[in-house]
Amino acid sequence: MTAQPKVIVTRRLPAAVESALRERFDVELAARDRPTGPDDLQRALAQGDGVLSTVTDKLTAEVLAAYPLRARIIANFGVGYDNIDVLAAQAHEIVVTNTPDVLTDCTSDLAMTLILMTMRRAGEGERELRGGRWTGWRPTHMVGSRVTGKTLGLVGMGRIARAVARRAHHGFGMRVLCYDPAAPSPVELAALGTEPRATLEEVLAEADVVSLHCPSTPATRGLMNEQRLAQMRPGSYLVNTARGDIVDDDALTAALAGGHLAGAGLDVFRGEPNIDARYMKLDNVVLLPHLGSATRETREAMGFRAIENLAAFFEGRPIPDRVA
Ligand code: 8YV
Repeated sequence: MTAQPKVIVTRRLPAAVESALRERFDVELAARDRPTGPDDLQRALAQGDGVLSTVTDKLTAEVLAAYPLRARIIANFGVGYDNIDVLAAQAHEIVVTNTPDVLTDCTSDLAMTLILMTMRRAGEGERELRGGRWTGWRPTHMVGSRVTGKTLGLVGMGRIARAVARRAHHGFGMRVLCYDPAAPSPVELAALGTEPRATLEEVLAEADVVSLHCPSTPATRGLMNEQRLAQMRPGSYLVNTARGDIVDDDALTAALAGGHLAGAGLDVFRGEPNIDARYMKLDNVVLLPHLGSATRETREAMGFRAIENLAAFFEGRPIPDRVA
């Protein structure tokens, strides 16, 4: 019997996923559930045939220069893989995979959660009530913005944005616009009730709420800067369930504090879990701890998808979700 490939897992995973990993591989599960630092990541790359990583593992070019290097595959648990320097992985002939599709519904649900929470001031209301400051119903109390009939602008029109469009248009009666240089076909957009725009600026100028759905790349880091936030409609909202570094925090906190934007809903942050202290002081911001895919069903499905990528690689089959 040939030895099973050794797979090193960097974080605790749902129990069903950990059991399946034990059955399929010579697996080293995470003993402690905290981010793996550069030294331990290098040890994993030196000792495992495969590494199952997450967003909290910074697999930089420096880390990937580990010597000796045994790992031939990094199976990332997540659709985003900006935590991995893909060019460096390629240079070391390491295959990289992600887990698309299985988190589309839950992440788009969370984008809708933030749209509703910000426009209807739900976070602010809950804080007031829990803080014992609610003095009772009154017609002028905590008045937000109607969602039905408002215009949603989607930045990026990949799987998650399309699921948001479907929910927003068919469920909440919103008008939906999108900007994506690689937008789906007009027929698919029409089915989603979504109108494409040729430029990001057009979407920003028309939308009552803008939701970000592009990956973090050199082209999108800092995309929502002072100039682009100024192009958003006065009194509009920004929602981010993509990656924190797409937004310039100086510009966003200024736009929120100055009143140009009515609110923001953020599930992701630059340098998370450290949150820019200015957000904490702004009542018109809803802050969630990167919950996009955080449902039992989805986290299990992500784990099984990562296992399938590892198994396909080690068995010499076509790898379903190879990104590099
Ligand atoms: C994950 C995410 O929880 O998939 C992504 O890109 O941001 C989240 O759904 C995270 O990446 C886990 O590694």
